Amino acid sequence: MRRIVFLICVAVLINSSSFSQRKLTVDASKSIATVQPTMWGVFFEDINFAADGGLYAELVKNRSFEFPMPMMGWKMNRDKYERGAIVITNKMNGDVNSKFATVTLHNAEARPDDSVGRGNLSLSNEGFRGMGFHSGKQYDFSIIAKSSYSASVTLKIQLVNSTGKVIGSTVIDKFTNMWKNYAASITTTDSAQKGKLNIVFEGEGAIDIDVVSLFPHDTWKGRSGGLRNDIAQMIADLKPGFIRFPGGCIVEGRDIMNRYQWKTTVGKVNERQLIMNRWNVEFRHRPAPDYYQSFGLGFYEYFQFAEDCGAEPLPILNCGMACQFNSGEVVAMEELKPYIDDALDLIEFANGSIQTPWGKLRSDMGHPEPFNLKMIGVGNEQWEPQYFERYKVFEKVILAKYPDIKLVSGTGPSPDGTYFDYAWKELKKLQPAFVDEHYYKPPSWFYNNINRYDKYDRNGAKIFAGEYAAHIKGNPADGEGMNVWESALAEAAFMTGLERNADLVQMASYAPLLAHTDAWQWRPDLIWFDNLKVMATPNYFVQKMFSNNKGTDVVSITENGNPVAADSLYSSAVVDKQTNMLIIKMVNSSPLAQTVELNLQGLKLTKVNAILHQIATADLSAFNKLSELDKLKPEEKAFPVKTSKFNQSLPSYSFTVLKIPLKDK
Ligand code: AHR
Repeated sequence: MRRIVFLICVAVLINSSSFSQRKLTVDASKSIATVQPTMWGVFFEDINFAADGGLYAELVKNRSFEFPMPMMGWKMNRDKYERGAIVITNKMNGDVNSKFATVTLHNAEARPDDSVGRGNLSLSNEGFRGMGFHSGKQYDFSIIAKSSYSASVTLKIQLVNSTGKVIGSTVIDKFTNMWKNYAASITTTDSAQKGKLNIVFEGEGAIDIDVVSLFPHDTWKGRSGGLRNDIAQMIADLKPGFIRFPGGCIVEGRDIMNRYQWKTTVGKVNERQLIMNRWNVEFRHRPAPDYYQSFGLGFYEYFQFAEDCGAEPLPILNCGMACQFNSGEVVAMEELKPYIDDALDLIEFANGSIQTPWGKLRSDMGHPEPFNLKMIGVGNEQWEPQYFERYKVFEKVILAKYPDIKLVSGTGPSPDGTYFDYAWKELKKLQPAFVDEHYYKPPSWFYNNINRYDKYDRNGAKIFAGEYAAHIKGNPADGEGMNVWESALAEAAFMTGLERNADLVQMASYAPLLAHTDAWQWRPDLIWFDNLKVMATPNYFVQKMFSNNKGTDVVSITENGNPVAADSLYSSAVVDKQTNMLIIKMVNSSPLAQTVELNLQGLKLTKVNAILHQIATADLSAFNKLSELDKLKPEEKAFPVKTSKFNQSLPSYSFTVLKIPLKDK
């Protein structure tokens, strides 16, 4: 009996508000700060197979045989009656795409038992941890090929599932002795999570093949050779204010040679120079020997994606330094010019008239209109004097030619400490428009730093919270399991602090953005995917609840005249002048439910219902999986707000966004 009474008491305690009721006052009569349209954005880096094998919808890995191990991803299948061969030919002429496969067929020999037909030679591609095929969908296959004069070769193109069953096929033939592109579409009869592409060679003679490609027909915005629909849409649904690309450490490279060079990522797709992805070898516990960058998703496509999303493009460029966690190589100061020219030329590529060489390339690629680039990051996550002496040169030259371009500099990998303090000392003397701060920290850090920006100097650069994520302690093998509700809730609380300081913090992005469940190197990540599905983490929903409700003006929300930023309750409020809406964000990080009294001042209510978006679970360790996509997601409900003073219940461990329609003043 005593035990039952005890349990009832615990249940009552947990389910009811045991806090003395807290009273929050919103004053919507005046704007404290303008929320910049850029405020909440995304950080894209080709890490965790985010580009090749992820957002870039190409299904064939190593399509041009240009990996250093040219048959990586490919397998030759030859039965004992077949005497043909597949070899890699290398033109050795310095071309970017100098390798191709030469297939020689000698399968005229009948088997001893000729009922089974002739020998068999085929090539299969494993894709990026398999290929995902959706049933009843069209896939667009293409190949560049030439055959010898005397050859008579037919290619049977097959899409197969993991058991080898053919779920779609087509035939390509009539090759000539000139390199030519051949294309055909295949519609699948079934789906496959880990399918493959087979090319079965039939006939006699030799054929050279290159750039073997397979794309889903339904790419984002219907662009052939474009982006994976579901992943792109999930990013676009964030309505990001900016897209930062291409990283991250990938900008720096392990060494200077391995750095990201935007010029090699534009122009004809087949002529883009493949390089190793630095995350191929970065973590010993997560080796990814087949991780390369084809740059099918290159700078043109990034600009286009940003434009399609209505986001400002934010390219980050190498500043003559390799990753300081790796080789830390720097380019000699007197050799810096090509790096600075890259920045100047990028501005021309994005904004220049089509009369200029780089503007013409943009136009030739299909975009005569400028991309309207406004900002550039110089260096990613650099530190110490070697960075600032280089940054200074970039700053001088870029601003002399393009005074309106906003430069982004940074404070290095930590949000405090020696490098950070040194960086800020230097940054105060320089003229970056934005200073990029990074914080990958435990949830407690996020709670302890909610007021971080309250006291920052308002006269200098604006803040770009360029990479952040709450990291819990986890098993090295955990993937999506690191994106627990505990981390998302801490980020939500912290983001109320960013929003309150929107006059200073004008851009923020969670990092990294994407991860393949079978091919990740780094976690937590905002969005997880496999070959068929894409999954929003609780952290994604938090980001979306902020970015879809960013408003236009910060207004004050206080408790006893102070920001609501302590004792398990964190809040910020904005007004959206375009939709005439008051939007209040509230985080209850306590295991106890709370009911707060909201007192709205300086506004007029309408009779239209308010809308509440709420995401909550008492289980801080809860997370979403691809097999349980909707375990944690915001609920939405409408309710009337009739008086300017009312109570709002906040469940334990919850994040609530309240949208209250207002009357015109
Ligand atoms: O987001 C993952 C990595 O974290 C980025 O590449 C780098 O900038 C930071 O160290």
